[in-house]
Amino acid sequence: MPITPTKHIWHNGNLIAWEQANIHVMSHVVHYGSSVFEGIRCYTQPNGAGIFRLAEHMQRLADSAKIYRMPLPYSVEQLCSAVVDLVEANEVAPCYIRPIAFRGYGEIGVNPLKSPVDVYIANFPWGKYVPGNDGADVCVSSWNRLAPNTMPSLAKAGANYMNSQLIRMEAEVNGYSEGIALDVNGYLSEGSGENLFLVRNGVLYTTPLANSVLSGITRSSVLTLAKHLGIEVVEQALPREMLYIADEAFFTGTAAEVTHLRSVDRILVADGKMGPITSALHKAFFDIVNGLAPDRYNWLTPVKVRVAENVGA
Ligand SMILES: Cc1ncc(COP(=O)(O)O)c(C=O)c1O
Repeated sequence: MPITPTKHIWHNGNLIAWEQANIHVMSHVVHYGSSVFEGIRCYTQPNGAGIFRLAEHMQRLADSAKIYRMPLPYSVEQLCSAVVDLVEANEVAPCYIRPIAFRGYGEIGVNPLKSPVDVYIANFPWGKYVPGNDGADVCVSSWNRLAPNTMPSLAKAGANYMNSQLIRMEAEVNGYSEGIALDVNGYLSEGSGENLFLVRNGVLYTTPLANSVLSGITRSSVLTLAKHLGIEVVEQALPREMLYIADEAFFTGTAAEVTHLRSVDRILVADGKMGPITSALHKAFFDIVNGLAPDRYNWLTPVKVRVAENVGA
């Protein structure tokens, strides 16, 4: 997806021009992958625009930084206001928001502690992420997800996405939209950038955090919506073959939103169409973010922007 530049990027407390948001090639992050980041969506509603679960995303950024002993010079509240200021200054909605904190130009060598922490936030228009209008055709990847006690899956760290890149490239090279990785024990984990849900006999299943998944904010939103809709939810380790016999399957993620899976490894998921539980959750999710249902969980932070044309589902 090409990047559409906007006017400003937030850098360490100031708005700077998009073109000036550059770093030195000797920055620690370039060599050792020492970044933590977030991906957040701002949606438009009939009366304006709202950022989805901003505080939860910024709390996860703070958690990711803490895991990596990276002192964030801003509180969650300060980062949330920075995002609102940026989106309002750039006047782009709907949009995708990318906060990132990393170890900058300081010392060479693996130890990051003497390299300064830089924080940037950018936002730009972004539409659909997982290709396929009638559901995604995905595969099980030959790559495993991060083993426990190697790279922490609960940290949304740049370096983790080298693993995601392998999964995604392999899938696309082989003609699939996305790959699903197993964990090191062969249980289902997640997509390269999405959490995984299955439905079987009316029960909604998702893989637990112990199977090397990111604690997705869309995942938690869908679990909340499922409880509200009276759907039975089970978080448990799942064998790969559950994918092949599932009645429904879908991905969740900020980028992927709620994307139903049509097939896995060329085996249709039921008849390949979006099933009733996925449809109910998809509708409940989009009704809230699009302002068609009350925001009963206070998931949206309002922003004052002139609303542009919608760029995606
Ligand atoms: C590896 C991975 N899993 C799951 C998710 C979904 O998380 P969220 O719903 O918070 O975007 C993402 C996206 O951030 C991801 O990169």
